[in-house]
Amino acid sequence: MARKKESKITPIIGLQWGDEGKGKGVARIASGLSKKDLIVRFQGGNNAGHTIWHGGKCYVFHLIPSGVFGQAQIHLGAGMVINPGALAQEARMIPKKIPLLKRMSVSPHAVLTIPTHLILDSVSEKTKGKRKIGSTGKGISPSYTDLTLRRALRVGDIFYDDFKKKYKMLQKEHKTTLQKVFEYKISENELRKKEKEFFRGIKFLRSLRSADSAEIVLEALSGRHKVIAEGAQGALLDVRFGHYPFVTSSHTISSGIGTGLGIPPSYIGGAIGILKAYATKVGEGPFPTELGGIESAVWCRDKKIADEKMKFPEPNPNSKSEFEQGIALRRAGNEIGATTGRLRRTGWIDIPLLKYTVKMNQATKLVLTKLDVLSGFEKIKACTYYIIDSKKTKEVPFDLSRVKIKPIYKSFPAWKGKLSDYGKKLPKEALDYVKFLEKTLGAKIIYVGTGPEEHHVVERYWK
Ligand code: GDP
Ligand code: IMO
Ligand code: MG
Repeated sequence: MARKKESKITPIIGLQWGDEGKGKGVARIASGLSKKDLIVRFQGGNNAGHTIWHGGKCYVFHLIPSGVFGQAQIHLGAGMVINPGALAQEARMIPKKIPLLKRMSVSPHAVLTIPTHLILDSVSEKTKGKRKIGSTGKGISPSYTDLTLRRALRVGDIFYDDFKKKYKMLQKEHKTTLQKVFEYKISENELRKKEKEFFRGIKFLRSLRSADSAEIVLEALSGRHKVIAEGAQGALLDVRFGHYPFVTSSHTISSGIGTGLGIPPSYIGGAIGILKAYATKVGEGPFPTELGGIESAVWCRDKKIADEKMKFPEPNPNSKSEFEQGIALRRAGNEIGATTGRLRRTGWIDIPLLKYTVKMNQATKLVLTKLDVLSGFEKIKACTYYIIDSKKTKEVPFDLSRVKIKPIYKSFPAWKGKLSDYGKKLPKEALDYVKFLEKTLGAKIIYVGTGPEEHHVVERYWK
């Protein structure tokens, strides 16, 4: 029997390099969900940092789905990597009145991040020197590596008597790699501290309901309940289709939901694609529209926000220097990593890249966030095509680091004053930019973000 249109998972996917505002988008949708609906994470781990504002307080979620303040069930899916200590710590920050343990379940297939994964991550980054990826240092790549090496520990393992033995075996293998490959000797003291937190986390994990991702998702869908898949990172960080090797180690795109939850692809609907009104990137790798280019990349790699505030107390968004414009954009958008506190690199929106990710995720609806941040700029720019080898192109090259890309921009006049001065309406100039994006990307922008809180939006086609 043919399934009704509604009984499909709604992916919520970042269309850029992460930090597009997925947390706020999910929280907003979650507030309209009922007890039988479901919000799942299907990939990634605590490299994610999803910010939401609730009851005047700021929360950053790394592993727990951002819909925790609604009523829906929440699930940590099979495709995730889970650091148990970090999960327990995150659970502690949720207000007591939320029945978290009753609503949250975890897949036995999800991979465990163990303390030596974190050490492997940081040591391997250090030895790469200038060729480092700029990982969040949360042990994500070594955890997924162990999955493909077929030696990972998974959540389901913690319920067996041989768990500690298996843990020690894996740890021994990690220690050998650290010593033999990286010539690194672990500080046993440091390790013991990390282990204490890890085993406290394991105790917490044991108290959670273990549930097969596919089973609970398919059951919810067959009961015509809504299922939201909260993507972490962004499509341009996908391990296969992002700017390899400057990517994360999981499938961040909507087809990752299939393998991340163990469900057939026909159950995955068109995505709600989240994009910022400009672009940011944290970590290394190509960024064609970066304001200030390489100067900005190096600055963000080496400096802290305190250094920046000292040198540029009041950066001018309309400065002649693009580097300073980028700093002004970072400050206006508070573009500081939610997980690592690093400076996020800033630049203009890149249409060829967005077209690539809209298509890849079948983003049928879009959410445009942080338009308010562009208040104060005299001009807004969008890169509409590239010049590569003296040729005009709208195609995304296979490897952006191997070609010299000159982005070509279309400029839009900005509005006067702040977006908030216009209430629940957008000024004409903002609307023109929104309509241009809709037309070029071929999908409706269902709402526009005008500030960090859930109600800071201008709705357009919401239903
Ligand atoms: P995520 O990883 O995609 O969930 O995004 P992050 O939480 O890492 O970064 C997005 C940041 O922008 C957070 O600090 C949000 O509070 C903030 N934010 C989200 N939407 C808006 C918006 O429309 N306007 C402004 N000014 N801030 C926003
Ligand atoms: P959310 O879900 C932005 C980046 C890192 C680095 C690369 C690899 O908050 O959007 P990893 O630790 O995964 O091995 O790092 O990916 N990265 C993110 N950038 N937002 C994220 O998550 C990210 N998660 C990883 O900065 O460049
Ligand atoms: Mg983030």
